[in-house]
Amino acid sequence: MARRSFLAIILAAGEGTRMRSATPKVMHKVAGDPMLGHVIRAARGAGADRMAVVVGPGAGAVEAFVGRAAPEASVHVQAERLGTAHAVLAAKKAFAPEPDDVIVLYGDSPLMTAETLKALRRMLTKADLVVLGFTPADPAGYGRLLMDGRQLTAIREVKDATPEERAVRLCNAGVMAFRGSLLPMLRKIGNTNAKGEYYLTDLVELANRASKTVAVLEADPDEVAGVNDRAELAAAEASFQRGARAKAMADGATLIAPETVFFSFDTRIGRDVTVEPNVFFGTGVTIADGVTVKGFSHLEGATIGANAIVGPFSRLRPGAAIGEGAHVGNFVEIKNAGLDAGAKANHLAYIGDAHVGAGANIGAGVITCNYDGVFKHHTEIGAGAFIGTNSALIAPVTIGDGAYVGTGSVISQDVPAGDLAIARARQVNKPGYGAKLMAAKRAMKKGG
Ligand code: UD1
Ligand code: MG
Repeated sequence: MARRSFLAIILAAGEGTRMRSATPKVMHKVAGDPMLGHVIRAARGAGADRMAVVVGPGAGAVEAFVGRAAPEASVHVQAERLGTAHAVLAAKKAFAPEPDDVIVLYGDSPLMTAETLKALRRMLTKADLVVLGFTPADPAGYGRLLMDGRQLTAIREVKDATPEERAVRLCNAGVMAFRGSLLPMLRKIGNTNAKGEYYLTDLVELANRASKTVAVLEADPDEVAGVNDRAELAAAEASFQRGARAKAMADGATLIAPETVFFSFDTRIGRDVTVEPNVFFGTGVTIADGVTVKGFSHLEGATIGANAIVGPFSRLRPGAAIGEGAHVGNFVEIKNAGLDAGAKANHLAYIGDAHVGAGANIGAGVITCNYDGVFKHHTEIGAGAFIGTNSALIAPVTIGDGAYVGTGSVISQDVPAGDLAIARARQVNKPGYGAKLMAAKRAMKKGG
């Protein structure tokens, strides 16, 4: 059988006024990615070979995001917000050549999975139109699904529903799949309803009138939750995190207190990893097998090699690459820097724009002075080097392999391999002067 062409239309033109935000609703993030990004991934994962995103006028940020997240997608502007059917028609340029299958998704439903979309699409072999339904705890403002046996006869928006129709618990989740041959029917949708909008949901009644088969697939209420305000955004986040924690554990990670660990949409975590309580994974983190991440650590854009130990209280910023078996301890910040295998920075250090060779030891309080107020500079620390406590390395600077930097040094020149560098004032002892000084001060305090 020839491959069926598949168009996904994502509606993202909503104003989202209840978010009370300068940011368009679909750009609000769940697990570090705009909601729209989640929906795009689901559509792509379901095998959409064409994607059309409908945005509101002046939504430059949304357009720019689509350009990055889905360069293959076409972007269409819905100039006026006249309803969901009107929004779909804004993407009419994407209707030709006529696709075999169409799916319409809402950009504010970030928990939608590719599996559900695939299941919807599979049903198109038997039905002409399939609507994703669910039974929410509170049907509130959702459209009600009116059934006649297994045939869906209509979707009734609450404002247009009779009391009997309102009593129906099965609701419209807002995802619809239909055969491309139904696309011309969208133009027949009118706007004679309580809101005076062109409702996409009216396609169901039109399809019934044309004797089409219209079916419902029932989804998990958690997966279809739409986000209209910040409380719902937090609920979507919580739901995502529950799933991510369960997946990390199913894949072989130990989370001591899963409810206190936060993942991003793209966190990759290996087997036999232990994550202690209160750890936050920002975007772009990859963790190899056997790693321990101790409590209260914050990681973002970091790669951790096998069996490394990070934390407690570590901060790994973008470009941190921690080698196999390396240790990064409390109050250590690492940015755009690689620590090779077995290197250690156990306490109170800042390593930025640097490379630390294998097995090197970074003492407490070591700072790479990478920024001169205008430019950033690189620090190179050789394998097996020892950087004594409280040293400042003024970049650009190179410490050779096996070199030793004495405690409290301010290093402004390169240190050749194997050398000892001491860059601090020489100590002076004045015999008996300590006691004398103390006595003089005490006398001063008494007012003598
Ligand atoms: C819609 C459904 C309802 C369903 C619910 C699920 C219709 C008529 N109703 O109601 O049956 O239970 O979703 O969440 O479809 N949008 C545009 N342009 C417009 C109007 C809307 O792009 O002119 C977009 C919005 O950004 C949003 C989506 O379409 O992503 C849904 O619109 P919204 O107004 O939120 O519809 P609901 O009242 O939630
Ligand atoms: Mg909505």
